[in-house]
Amino acid sequence: MAKKRFMTLPRHILEGEKLHPEATGELSAILLQLSLAAKVISLEVNKAGLVDILGFTGESNKSGDEVKKLDIFAHETLLKAMDHGGHFCVMASEEDEDIIHLPPHQKIGKYVLLFDPLDGSSNIDANVSIGTIFSIYKRVTPGDGPGTLEDCLQPGYKQEVAGYILYGSSTVFVYTAGHGVYGFTLDPAFGEFLLSHDDIKIPKRGRIYSVNEGNYYSWPKGLKDYIKYLQANKFNGKPYQARYIGSMVADVHRTLLYGGIFMYPGDTRNEKGKLRLVYECNPMAFIVEAAGGRATDGKKRILEKVPESLHERIPIFIGSEEDVLLVEKFLADAEGH
Ligand code: AHG
Ligand code: MN
Ligand code: MN
Repeated sequence: MAKKRFMTLPRHILEGEKLHPEATGELSAILLQLSLAAKVISLEVNKAGLVDILGFTGESNKSGDEVKKLDIFAHETLLKAMDHGGHFCVMASEEDEDIIHLPPHQKIGKYVLLFDPLDGSSNIDANVSIGTIFSIYKRVTPGDGPGTLEDCLQPGYKQEVAGYILYGSSTVFVYTAGHGVYGFTLDPAFGEFLLSHDDIKIPKRGRIYSVNEGNYYSWPKGLKDYIKYLQANKFNGKPYQARYIGSMVADVHRTLLYGGIFMYPGDTRNEKGKLRLVYECNPMAFIVEAAGGRATDGKKRILEKVPESLHERIPIFIGSEEDVLLVEKFLADAEGH
């Protein structure tokens, strides 16, 4: 927990920047702007039960999911907060089928912003935790014109910064630039994020598994074997505990702090699972790896997969290193290698 009192997110970012004399300050400006968007979204999420923003818009997003108004609010808030700073050449969001260009006459920057504006949105009406996920890359296309799809389809290990905001019992902003993962809790009284989770390290092994067990009968045999193994055996005197919120941000946040494993596997109905590589799995994998954990599709590192399309899905096994290695072993054994 925080040793220094009153370490605000802006102060932390600026002090971090001073340690890197080569830094231009652009990433700091981006993070500060993202934290502003986070505060606006957090306020709206907290009001969700009170205002007429609940309910369906009646539209579906790219992936066919129901879109609620708060998804759109979060999407538009992020665009408004991020598209005028001159930092980005292109953006992409879960809520837009295509890449998003900067408004005309805006300065084009060298970074790329990818985000899931509101994750776990089916939970909104039940006051269950939801989140925002973001991922930042440097552009790879030459020149200083608008960015392209190619800039958005980079393998995750190339991320410059990744983070999430969890709107839970409190609002927490977690980010990494690849070294060190830091968490800040929003003080609602004076509207500032304060360092609450300094240099987060995920335990090497946990005692919690997190997966939608309703899909059990569609799972690969190795995963069924693995879960039965966790249930049938004792580890330090107890079997593993099951926890599944159904909001990836919340499930991964718990996994980061307590250890264990979060999974969204492929199954016989959805070979690639449900979660999206570009703006869900890659940022979470970057954060969990930076905290000393592991994230794979059951065989290969998530961060090395070269995305083929913006909204593609990938199976994910993410969390404590030893837990992820063990499920990989069960999956491989069941496949006969
Ligand atoms: P989103 O709300 O952005 O579409 O994402 C929902 C995701 C994710 O948050 C969660 O891990 C997963 O859906 C839960 O899916 P199931 O209901 O199939 O378990
Ligand atoms: Mn999502
Ligand atoms: Mn979403």
